[in-house]
Amino acid sequence: MNHPYAAGALARTSAATDVSAPAYVKHARLKEWVGSIAALTKPDRIVWADGSQEEYDRLCAELVAAGTLRKLNPAKRPNSYLALSDPGDVARVEDRTYICSARREDAGPTNNWTAPAEMRGTLNGLFDGCMRGRTMYVIPFSMGPLGSDIAHIGVEISDSAYVVANMRIMTRMGKAVFDVLGEDGAFVPCVHSVGKPLAAGEKDVAWPCNPTKYIVHFPETQEIWSYGSGYGGNALLGKKCFALRIASNMGRDEAKSGGTGWLAEHMLILGVTSPQGHKYHVAAAFPSACGKTNFAMLIPPAGFDGWKVETIGDDIAWIKPKDGKLYAINPEAGFFGVAPGTGRKTNPNAIDTLNANVLFTNVALTDDGDVWWEGLGEPPAHLIDWQGKDWTPADGKAGRKAAHPNSRFTAPAAQCPSIDPGWNDVKGVAIDAFIFGGRRSTTVPLVTEARSWQEGVYMAATMGSETTAAQAGATGIVRRDPFAMLPFCGYHMADYFKHWLDLGAKMQASGATLPKIYCVNWFRTDDQGKFVWPGYGENMRVLAWIIERIDGQGRGQENVFGITPRYEDLHWKGIDFGRADYERITSIDKSAWRQELKLHDELFDKLAERLPSSLLEVRRKLEKSLEG
Ligand code: GTP
Ligand code: SPV
Ligand code: MN
Repeated sequence: MNHPYAAGALARTSAATDVSAPAYVKHARLKEWVGSIAALTKPDRIVWADGSQEEYDRLCAELVAAGTLRKLNPAKRPNSYLALSDPGDVARVEDRTYICSARREDAGPTNNWTAPAEMRGTLNGLFDGCMRGRTMYVIPFSMGPLGSDIAHIGVEISDSAYVVANMRIMTRMGKAVFDVLGEDGAFVPCVHSVGKPLAAGEKDVAWPCNPTKYIVHFPETQEIWSYGSGYGGNALLGKKCFALRIASNMGRDEAKSGGTGWLAEHMLILGVTSPQGHKYHVAAAFPSACGKTNFAMLIPPAGFDGWKVETIGDDIAWIKPKDGKLYAINPEAGFFGVAPGTGRKTNPNAIDTLNANVLFTNVALTDDGDVWWEGLGEPPAHLIDWQGKDWTPADGKAGRKAAHPNSRFTAPAAQCPSIDPGWNDVKGVAIDAFIFGGRRSTTVPLVTEARSWQEGVYMAATMGSETTAAQAGATGIVRRDPFAMLPFCGYHMADYFKHWLDLGAKMQASGATLPKIYCVNWFRTDDQGKFVWPGYGENMRVLAWIIERIDGQGRGQENVFGITPRYEDLHWKGIDFGRADYERITSIDKSAWRQELKLHDELFDKLAERLPSSLLEVRRKLEKSLEG
């Protein structure tokens, strides 16, 4: 792969030849790239992260000394830390996220775009000297098990030690990556700066960042540049930037050049074993903060004896066709999960994942040096909230949250009690069903099975969801979030739909049985705005129905969009959930759906130029079935 910086596209003030690379780094082009970034950003020193425990402990100690991290009480939460961010740097910044493809049309109308040359000019200006007074870390990482043929390697340059620590949990990070890279292996270059250079003698702040933020992707050269934020997906560049925006391009490009291509999706992956001992695998896409982590770690409720759910991933899936099946891996090695709402009752597996070795960000601190957030149980009498201020339950009653709604934990996946023994398997797991779900207080029923791949793609493409705290901006606004990928698809959304349709068609043509596709909604509310469906572990009732459908056992009836279970088609043992409630979350209001179709049209109109015609056919059938 030929990267533009190698060709000298970036400003080089001096030829930085000495990048202090350890002897095990044998990759000349990589060293040259590090040198060119150092020449541009002008850090005080360069540190190559080796991924060791000693390094992690040392960096955390430095971050404690700097005031970025606070060590939690080791008796309560061994080897764990809390970071409180700048109040202006708490979530992904979608309006500052760019796909800078050579041609605007290739980014499509759902992405921000700027011409690459212009953006490079802007970035060169911003990054020039931006690491002054700081350490520049070189962070080698693998997305996916090291050496797997599905995995890909990235190298992130960052001036944030907090990022290094997080990357060590979230990815396979460190020295061993260079064994795979060798002298000229391919890697995705990721450049990150918090955008706060320090003048000589200037004291650092606890959470350096910059009000100006840019999260930029160059799909043709597979590069990532991120400026101004230290938070989550803005800064941990292996996650959304690489594993979704760049990887979605990689998967589609492979199809463009004659292969079947592959999929990079915003999906959890779980394994579910039936009482008969058959194991199935499901990949599910829900938008940010809409229940992926919870669903991936589901514990079957009372009445589901013999059923078992195991976790492979909670956020991202890379999915490739092989031997007539779709195999999925989790490219990550940790969970960057939403803290609020995670409790012993709602997600015990997550709670037990968090016993030790965790980085918490923007949750509240208890007086005995532990953490607390809304949903963890009764609040203690006193806390330090996510902004470092005193907090009492009276503040909570007055509506002030102790933890930021997008506060998160970074925890090793291997610590999850429900982790699947095969989660690290280089081969991946064969997917039997895809589930798509939005957060909708009205209109969308509990679960619907698509009657065909095309109908399933239509459902996923037109999915709507209420915005959450995971993205900066207003929450609770219904927007179209196709495939839960609106902020993550690295190219034209209509081409993405076509990629899904083509992949299905190619597989079908070669005799493969495609996974069934389902659409779910856990979030219908009553007149008081309360969720009607109990959710969490009780989602097993829907999952079990899906598995029974795959097995040919589950019953249902056809409605306007697809197949839905009647009340008597789900298992109700161990719960008191009557027909009236069931009606409330499954009823289809035809006039509301005619309105909904208009919202589908808005999206389709936006994408019209490249929209696959088969989706319009599904749309026409839907309209027909809504008549009368
Ligand atoms: P990202 O990490 O942002 O991609 O999100 P995610 O989809 O993994 O979100 P997560 O599972 O962490 O869910 C976040 C929020 O959804 C929390 O507030 C949960 O309480 C809530 N939630 C999860 N599952 C359910 C459910 O079944 N019903 C209801 N009502 N809320 C749920
Ligand atoms: C999301 O917002 O979907 C996340 C968190 O999973 S972040 O990594 O910050 O994107
Ligand atoms: Mn996510």
